[in-house]
Amino acid sequence: MKLGCCYYPEHWPEEWWAEDARRMAAMGLSLVRIGEFAWSRIEPEGGARYDWGWLDRAIDTLHAAGLKVILGTPTATPPKWLVDRMPEMVALDEQGRPRGFGSRRHYCFSHEEYRAECRRIVTAMAERYGRHPALAMWQTDNEYGCHDTVLSFSDAAASAFRGWLAARYGTPEALNAAWGNVFWSMEYRSFAEVDPPHLTVTEANPAHWLDYRRFASDQVASFNREQVAILRTHSPGVPITHNFMGFFTEFDHHAVGRDIDVATWDSYPLGFLEQFWFSPEEKRAYLRQGHPDIAAFHHDLYRGCSGGRWGVMEQQPGPVNWARFNPAPLPGMVALWTLEACAHGAELTSYFRWRQAPFAQEQMHAGLLRPDSAEAEAADEVRAAAAVLQDIGPQLAVKAPVALVFSYEAAWVIGIQPQGRSFRYLELVFEAYSALRARGLDVDIVSPEADLSGYRMVVVPSLPIVPQGFAEKLAALDVPVLLGPRSGSKTESLRIPEGLAPGALRSLVPLTVTRVESLRDGFAEAAAGFAVTRWREDVASDLAPEITDGTGRGVVFLHGRMRYCAIWPDRALLALLVGRMSEEASLELLDLPPGIRVRRSQAHVFTFNYAAEAVFVPHLGATLPPAGWHLDPR
Ligand code: GAL
Repeated sequence: MKLGCCYYPEHWPEEWWAEDARRMAAMGLSLVRIGEFAWSRIEPEGGARYDWGWLDRAIDTLHAAGLKVILGTPTATPPKWLVDRMPEMVALDEQGRPRGFGSRRHYCFSHEEYRAECRRIVTAMAERYGRHPALAMWQTDNEYGCHDTVLSFSDAAASAFRGWLAARYGTPEALNAAWGNVFWSMEYRSFAEVDPPHLTVTEANPAHWLDYRRFASDQVASFNREQVAILRTHSPGVPITHNFMGFFTEFDHHAVGRDIDVATWDSYPLGFLEQFWFSPEEKRAYLRQGHPDIAAFHHDLYRGCSGGRWGVMEQQPGPVNWARFNPAPLPGMVALWTLEACAHGAELTSYFRWRQAPFAQEQMHAGLLRPDSAEAEAADEVRAAAAVLQDIGPQLAVKAPVALVFSYEAAWVIGIQPQGRSFRYLELVFEAYSALRARGLDVDIVSPEADLSGYRMVVVPSLPIVPQGFAEKLAALDVPVLLGPRSGSKTESLRIPEGLAPGALRSLVPLTVTRVESLRDGFAEAAAGFAVTRWREDVASDLAPEITDGTGRGVVFLHGRMRYCAIWPDRALLALLVGRMSEEASLELLDLPPGIRVRRSQAHVFTFNYAAEAVFVPHLGATLPPAGWHLDPR
């Protein structure tokens, strides 16, 4: 795994560049990501009058120090002259308000003229640098969707949506039938009559929303694909990446992943712990480390997004600026996060950013250097991690025993129709992942389209819409499979299936979900060893339930090697199921103390301590200090 950093030569006097480059190399870095926000310096006035001089010199200076460059296309930050020339290129938010100039990502994916401008600037960059010897990789744009920018309600989006619907349904009658538009007299006589599903009096038709999300996701993928095609033409053989985000499901990353070579993601474990659903106790316990599964979950998710090649494009090196609270990592955590990425098979980890900026939006965000150019705390840890990496050599990921099926469409369906506000798809998948990892199992997070053969256990936390062929694929496996609540509960057009849930999955587990209910936060019905919270389904079946609640109602149903779980599984129930299924699969489990995680690469077994205190680790027979790690050959 190579180490790198995110660098903005345009932020610093040119006289500093050579010394910066020298210090980067001396710190053990070999990759530098540049350029992704530099449009206003590359093309200050428009009219295709480019100023390449500074960028040529920046790349040459880095190269002269032995560094390679990851070059970002600058399309996340269209400059002022461009927005002024085509004001309708900005996205409109759900309230119909334009997303103003003065930060970033103020564009609509559907705006054709903006897309043409993107093709132009990407072509110009690719022609200039596509065969430069310093070029290691391209990055398209930056964090598609960041700051809530996947959905746009602009005229451009509305008109593209109408075209998308016409292609999908052929006739307005077919669309009306699929969506059930007879309800509330919502029928359309032509595609031209259909608007985006916003500004309605009460909720719009959920099928309308689902298609809008599918459409918006397709727009992101096609926007990206246009850049990829240009880069492949002018820069043959140079790998292409995009830097995805954490806990983010607004577009289908599997679809974008298929078009690029390396899926990278931006890892901010402390910011994510603070911003997401973790309990106050977890936020306290892991304040300076992050929850032990946050980084690993995304490593395993993104490894499955582009055929195995993946990395961390932005690694938190200190306090960030964007969470509600922004603590500093515990000493040692930056090194631990780095080695953990390596243990999961990353090919690069790049720190965000080289030097903390003393100006503008992110002046409170730490870097490897302070604004005064002295080293920040993380610098020593980077050197230490670099030395370990040097020592242990490449760590290839091997197929994990467990496949966890992740569906972006499932996240949209449940988000559109949560039915209970604490039914959060991402949290459900994360909890399942965490239950597996807490017993020392390695996990591949895969798309529903993935080949599942060769796995020894398959977990499908929830899959409301069952893709064609999925049930048959599961039926062909002879391993324990867990199907979570709401699986098979909707059709492709977001209807309740004929014969009710679990629809197409009934061939695997003969049961019918006759009613569902959601339970308010804080409400729990105790059962033997677990509790019913958040969600419960009434099930009719000739099967005797494998697990019942306190009153004898079925909670888990087992048929052959297939299980269906009819409630939101709490941690205790997940632990029980992981235990049973692992035993059936003859998988060896570990009893890991809280905060301890294990990961096996092809060559090594890594153990990491995410706890804030020293922990005795039974399988090592030794105590790991806070942020400590240990490594054994396999
Ligand atoms: C990322 C983004 C970077 C920077 C960073 C700060 O979301 O890609 O440009 O803003 O966050 O943590």
